[in-house]
Amino acid sequence: MHPEGNLEEFQDPVNYDLEEIPGSDERIAMIRDAVSRQGHSTLELACGTGIVTLPLAAAGQHTTGVDLSRPMLEHARVKAASMGLGGRTAWHHADAREVRLPGRFASAVLTGNAFQAFLADADQRALLATVHAHLEVGGLFVFETRNPAGHPLHDISEWEPWFEYTSAQGHRVSVGGTQRWDAAARALHWTTERRWTDARSGQRHQRSTRIACRFTPPDELGALLAAAGFTIERQFGAWDGSPLSASSPEIVTFCRR
Ligand SMILES: C[S@@+](CC[C@H](N)C(=O)[O-])C[C@H]1O[C@@H](n2cnc3c(N)ncnc32)[C@H](O)[C@@H]1O
Repeated sequence: MHPEGNLEEFQDPVNYDLEEIPGSDERIAMIRDAVSRQGHSTLELACGTGIVTLPLAAAGQHTTGVDLSRPMLEHARVKAASMGLGGRTAWHHADAREVRLPGRFASAVLTGNAFQAFLADADQRALLATVHAHLEVGGLFVFETRNPAGHPLHDISEWEPWFEYTSAQGHRVSVGGTQRWDAAARALHWTTERRWTDARSGQRHQRSTRIACRFTPPDELGALLAAAGFTIERQFGAWDGSPLSASSPEIVTFCRR
């Protein structure tokens, strides 16, 4: 395992926010609508820098964010304070497989494909037990995970460009990488390499991070949720609300305890 466990990718929260994937607005809107109808308290596991937590707090939710990466969580805390949302947000540095907080929540959220960070069967079960333990009876759990059939699950050993962005340091960064598919564990091991040239010195730089993500097919996900005490209410193939099909990119699930 890597020195930071599976968290190498989550040590630079400021640039994480700048690299934010397109489609986040649809995701936030869909989650905000659902949790607002449910009640006033939301637990977000693997909340990262609060990209979803903070808009929920701004919409009136009492939010609690849990994350295992200290830098991500600290950045979330700073952003909440600067937005005047400190009174409606609580942050806990903890492992979502083990954390137990006082009280119950109307809704729980796990997004940014964070479900895929739970690599073993036991990790997935422990995560869902945490969600179950923190939800009121009838409480809503919203999460997404990439649909295996909608993704190229094989080795790619030549660096491929993915996207570009301008970093907090002002560099134009080209982000790309390689991947290795572990079929037995159904885990994709990505190595992300960020490349940039310092405009003043002309010097080239690169930084690599690794992450493993597990892929769970819809039928197995359904069985896992049922065993953990959840009933699926709605599923979509993406955060735009499109129906879940065999080749959808995502499995977006709204389920209840
Ligand atoms: C892709 S980021 C998603 C962050 C946020 N939900 C978002 O949508 O921007 C995945 C997050 O999961 C967190 N994470 C990974 N394993 C975790 C665990 N066992 N318990 C809590 N957080 C975890 C990482 O630190 C990281 O912040």
